[in-house]
Amino acid sequence: MKKKTKTFFYCSNCGYESLKWLGKCPDCSSWNSFVEEQQVATKNPTPKEAAAPEMIGAIEIKKDMRISSGFVEVDRVLGGGFISGEILLLSGEPGIGKSTLVLQIAKNLGRDYKVLYCSGEESKEQIKYRGNRLGITGESILVSAENNFENVQRIIEKEQPDFLVIDSIQTMYTSEIESAQGTVAQAREISAKLLKLAKNSAMTVMIIGHITKDGGIAGPKVLEHMVDAVLYFEGERYYQYRSLRSYKNRFGSSSEIGIFEMAEEGLVEVLNPSKFLLQERAEEAPGSVITAVYEGSRAILLEVQALVSDSHYNQGRRVATGYDYNRINMIIAVLEKKIGLQLSGSDIYVNIVGGLKVSEPAVDLAIALAITSSFRNKSIDKDLMIIGEVGLSGEVRSVSNLDQRIAEAEKMGFAKAIVPVHNKTLPKGAKISLMKASNLAEAIRLTEF
Ligand code: TYD
Ligand code: MG
Repeated sequence: MKKKTKTFFYCSNCGYESLKWLGKCPDCSSWNSFVEEQQVATKNPTPKEAAAPEMIGAIEIKKDMRISSGFVEVDRVLGGGFISGEILLLSGEPGIGKSTLVLQIAKNLGRDYKVLYCSGEESKEQIKYRGNRLGITGESILVSAENNFENVQRIIEKEQPDFLVIDSIQTMYTSEIESAQGTVAQAREISAKLLKLAKNSAMTVMIIGHITKDGGIAGPKVLEHMVDAVLYFEGERYYQYRSLRSYKNRFGSSSEIGIFEMAEEGLVEVLNPSKFLLQERAEEAPGSVITAVYEGSRAILLEVQALVSDSHYNQGRRVATGYDYNRINMIIAVLEKKIGLQLSGSDIYVNIVGGLKVSEPAVDLAIALAITSSFRNKSIDKDLMIIGEVGLSGEVRSVSNLDQRIAEAEKMGFAKAIVPVHNKTLPKGAKISLMKASNLAEAIRLTEF
């Protein structure tokens, strides 16, 4: 193999390549994101013969292609379990619990498979210490604190593991290129090598990657299109809830979510999230509304809280936790214009309880009513739940999977629900009493303020 070294510039946000330094990335529009890196151009040797193509009907699939992670919540997100030869990226903020989750998965897999856990972040002793806390004893997990990729490759050749964990991609480096550890070029090069290894050996690879709150750090973003599945582990650090979300999944749905609780002895699956998310609810408190989100293939009930208070500034503060800030501003604008609420002199805080991040507009109406409830200091009936998207004219728009949301509300003992009038999937034979709203004003009337 011939090697040539060239200097390149990469956007550290999206991986866009350029021959010269650029102030603004033409691809993702970030400023000052270009970093200089050495790229090795390797000329790949021509293979001697091509792998023979096969008729699709004649290709045999091994029966148990899916390998259970031992967690119902993780399997759901994976689309039924891992697939051998699959390469996954697990991204999340530092300290959110990625290593903990992967070590617990390794514990489960270690009963039937050989797992190699390569950590460039912690020493073997530290991993052992964490393992003790997680109840890992005799499982066949090989631990290596190697962060040179060529050495990792040697270990893989010798040990032939079924599962490989790289914790984290930012701490690994290959000696084949000159760029420093943690750079885009390194992450890209190592991932490409891992991809080849995984496909050739049927080894499943989990790569851990750190991102910051704004997703700004080099590395993981660039890898997203190289891997089979991208999982995000997220949550608010000071809440105990964590959600595992699939963002891309070649072998399953890309909108599934698994919920965990961070406990003393590691992550615990939350199999009934609605019950968990509602357990600390202060009933009949102004500003509190229950709604249902639909994530992946199930409905989850959660509490939306709003607090409207007099502002000490000319311009009221708006703070959103767990929901899109701009969307909250839109809802506030509709409340001012269509309902006539005087909100400009108020500070408004909106919180999705439990640290869950919601991106569905189906919770708009619940947020609008939570703000109205806090503003008027009148609580909403504790047996009522509220579902609907709010449009710019104040209209209540239909939502997907209403029947499953209502079924979940019934299961949790709710008696009444405000739902969009135009919804096509109105559940038949529901015991819950459904009140249909066509616009915001009507929905407010239905809550009997
Ligand atoms: P960690 O898995 O190290 O995060 P990451 O790999 O994403 O950086 O998780 C670190 C946090 O989790 C740490 O603040 C302590 C907490 N934790 C528990 O609460 N219980 C446990 O059993 C473990 C192992 C960690
Ligand atoms: Mg870690």
